[in-house]
Amino acid sequence: MSAKTILCIGAGYVGGPTMAMIARQCPEYRVLIVDIDAARIRAWQSGEPPIYEPGLKELVAASLNRNLFFSTDVAAGIAEADIIFVSVNTPTKTFGQGAGRAADLQYWEKTARQILAHARRDVIVVEKSTLPVRTAEAMDRILRAAPAAVHFEVLSNPEFLAEGTAVRDLEQPDRVLIGGHDSESGRRAVAALVDVYAHWVPRERILTTNVWSAELSKLAANAFLAQRISSINSLSAICEATEANIGEVARAIGMDPRIGPRFLNASVGFGGSCFKKDILNLVYLCDHYGLGEVARYWEQVVLMNEYQEDRFVRNMVAAMFNTVAGKRIAVFGFAFKADTGDVRESPALRVCQALMAEHASVVVTDPQALPNARLELAVYGDRVTFESDPYTAARGAHAIALVTEWNAFRTLDYRRIYAAMEKPAFVFDGRNCLDHAALHALGFNVLPIGQKPLTHR
Ligand code: NAD
Ligand code: UGA
Repeated sequence: MSAKTILCIGAGYVGGPTMAMIARQCPEYRVLIVDIDAARIRAWQSGEPPIYEPGLKELVAASLNRNLFFSTDVAAGIAEADIIFVSVNTPTKTFGQGAGRAADLQYWEKTARQILAHARRDVIVVEKSTLPVRTAEAMDRILRAAPAAVHFEVLSNPEFLAEGTAVRDLEQPDRVLIGGHDSESGRRAVAALVDVYAHWVPRERILTTNVWSAELSKLAANAFLAQRISSINSLSAICEATEANIGEVARAIGMDPRIGPRFLNASVGFGGSCFKKDILNLVYLCDHYGLGEVARYWEQVVLMNEYQEDRFVRNMVAAMFNTVAGKRIAVFGFAFKADTGDVRESPALRVCQALMAEHASVVVTDPQALPNARLELAVYGDRVTFESDPYTAARGAHAIALVTEWNAFRTLDYRRIYAAMEKPAFVFDGRNCLDHAALHALGFNVLPIGQKPLTHR
């Protein structure tokens, strides 16, 4: 198959960066991205991506209007495509059967029906979104209603990029996973997609499997990663009870190459649009197949995360003489991690909600996420305020709650901040990223995660 036009449906955190990378690496392909969100498309077209991601603007600029195009005309895009990536959102269902756990596949199914309605020639349909295992079967069945002249081949090609490092992850992926059917047309489709990635990814990193393994591997990878964080966070609670130090414990266990040092940073909790959603999806799937014990095992990873987020605020209240009512709390960071403006499932949200429930006066500062933070906290009206300048945010505050590990927060003049705060002044370091001894020496009471508090009498 001569695959010359690549279409991606969904111009979000995955669709935009992934297609921009393909366009740059494969100049002979025409890459078109469509979305129903006209404002998002306008932003991409303007060269100012609608999401903050280091290096993304430059990556898009390299191909924009050469072989990379953005449009809201989904039907026209489908009609001219040889390969269609589907990268629409697959959030957790909020209604009906499986509410709160199962994936909401309405956007996904809608695109399948649009593909069926508008495709004019043989098409490879690539699942880029993260989906429950055996979703490709549903896609196959919908597309099988096509006229005999048009053949659809469905592949699973889950994305493993992380936000904040998306461009680097796409440029040098650990692996590219492509799942296809074991049939002649399936093998041909897999080969066509391997050809795309082989423009820049070494062949030995391109892994081909059956469709179901590819779908499950994506859920499994996120479940394993989140499990690591919940594991280290569970140990941080033991550290706080025993004066063991979570940094030392993480180092000691991480030096065992079977465990490894990465992804062992204890924190206020994991956030992001996917970990919780994908684990709950896995839990739902296990229950669906009657695997209750397996479901409960993975569910605990999410419950432990919620415990950690709540524990952070409980510790704050306890340290601040059992009341934060009327106290100004400066929340440093609202993004779910550094180097992104994304706030989906950010621990900051639950922290702010709990502080509001305690009648604290919350002021949020973040280098990139304030517009999204305003949307998330709109229900509180002017009870929550927003400051782009962390020094202004901290002025008159009783405490700083550091929730996102932005580099900018590490290098602030904390002497100046301390001078402008109410006393006794507290720092709750939800990322263990500040110099605790130095802050303590300045006069702060410092409460890290999984480490002995440094307080003044
Ligand atoms: P997103 O919400 O940023 O983007 C999805 C886009 O799809 C939106 O812009 C939406 O308007 C568009 N869309 C929905 N229905 C459409 C339709 N019928 N036609 C055209 N456009 C439509 O989501 P995202 O973060 O890019 O995630 C997409 C998928 O990738 C999800 O399944 C997610 O689990 C998975 N994933 C995300 C990440 C990540 O870091 N965000 C990483 C790996 C995998
Ligand atoms: C994660 C995975 O890392 C990606 O491989 C995957 O593609 C993606 O989910 C997805 O499917 O959406 P992402 O959520 O963007 O990527 O970011 P991570 O770096 O994984 O961080 C997730 C959360 O865990 C953040 O809140 C982060 O601060 C937290 N975290 C991470 C910790 O608390 N401790 C750590 O040691 C690492």
